[in-house]
Amino acid sequence: MTICASSSSDSTGSETSRAWIVHGVVVLAGAAAAAAAAALYLRRSRNLRRRVVGIIPARFASSRFEGKPLVRILGKPMIQRTWERAKLASTLDHVVVATDNEKIAECCRGFGADVIMTSESCRNGTERCNEALQKLGKTYDIVVNIQGDEPLIEPEIIDGIVRALQGAPDAVFSTAVTALKPEDAFDPNRVKCVINNSGYAIYFSRGLIPFNKSGKVNPKFPYLLHLGIQSYDTKFLKIYPQLPPTPLQLEEDLEQLKVLENGYKMKVIKVDHDAHGVDTPEDVEKIEALMRERNIQ
Ligand SMILES: *[C@@H]1O[C@H](CO)[C@@H](O)[C@H](O)[C@H]1NC(C)=O
Ligand SMILES: *[C@@H]1O[C@H](CO)[C@@H](O)[C@H](O)[C@H]1NC(C)=O
Ligand SMILES: *[C@@H]1O[C@H](CO)[C@@H](O)[C@H](O)[C@H]1NC(C)=O
Repeated sequence: MTICASSSSDSTGSETSRAWIVHGVVVLAGAAAAAAAAALYLRRSRNLRRRVVGIIPARFASSRFEGKPLVRILGKPMIQRTWERAKLASTLDHVVVATDNEKIAECCRGFGADVIMTSESCRNGTERCNEALQKLGKTYDIVVNIQGDEPLIEPEIIDGIVRALQGAPDAVFSTAVTALKPEDAFDPNRVKCVINNSGYAIYFSRGLIPFNKSGKVNPKFPYLLHLGIQSYDTKFLKIYPQLPPTPLQLEEDLEQLKVLENGYKMKVIKVDHDAHGVDTPEDVEKIEALMRERNIQ
């Protein structure tokens, strides 16, 4: 897995603002003051949003796949695989599983995970993360919502979106995209994304965006597929579930549009990742075959 240099957070948000500040001071006060100011700024920005928690929301009931988090993938529960990957991320101070189910909780405690019990009334993963955050009783600046059904998530992607949010103080949300496969272009379950020159999200759609005038996929265009991992500023997470639904969100049935429609900024990183989400029992066989092929234990 590599994070594409062109849009990785470190090279955009913090770097540009640092350069600007250094420049401003040079003009006013000379090099020594500039260096001091830059050092101070760097220290501050490093401290900015430095306390980070990774939350893996996991529920038992699911319309398509009952008990999904506990399904065994090459002998290990899926939730354990996700947790083990998350534990390898160097930006996370703490990783917890948030669940409403005693079986899942027991399984997770069994392999050493911290578990927060959340109520059954949570309507989605974001609400579950928010409730878990309140119950954690410790202050965090960033919450990473790690989907329990992506057992092959690379720790580098988790670190990438955390650093993106740390490096873009004007954004409240960060997420990742990867290259869209041409065969997924017209699949409404594959969400597409377009970003601007500084790597902020412009729009997400279930339709193909941008849409070539010919009505066909342009084999030369670098379309982006949205990956279901996201991180939020904790202050924003408290209000996110309460923001009323917005027209584009309702039309596309995409939660994240609510963020953009309300004028909040979202930083997006490009990563090289083959999405292998597990949504149905058939996906388990597919992912096991792939793991055998790649020699992943
Ligand atoms: C990209 O979008 C962000 C968020 O809306 C905005 O602040 C920034 O100015 C935009 N950058 C460019 C180059 O358009
Ligand atoms: C559409 O895609 C074709 C390739 O299929 C490309 O040559 C063309 O520049 C794209 N844009 C427009 C407006 O046709
Ligand atoms: C979660 O569910 C609540 C209640 O249905 C809804 O208001 C909210 O928009 C949903 N999504 C997020 C991301 O909070």
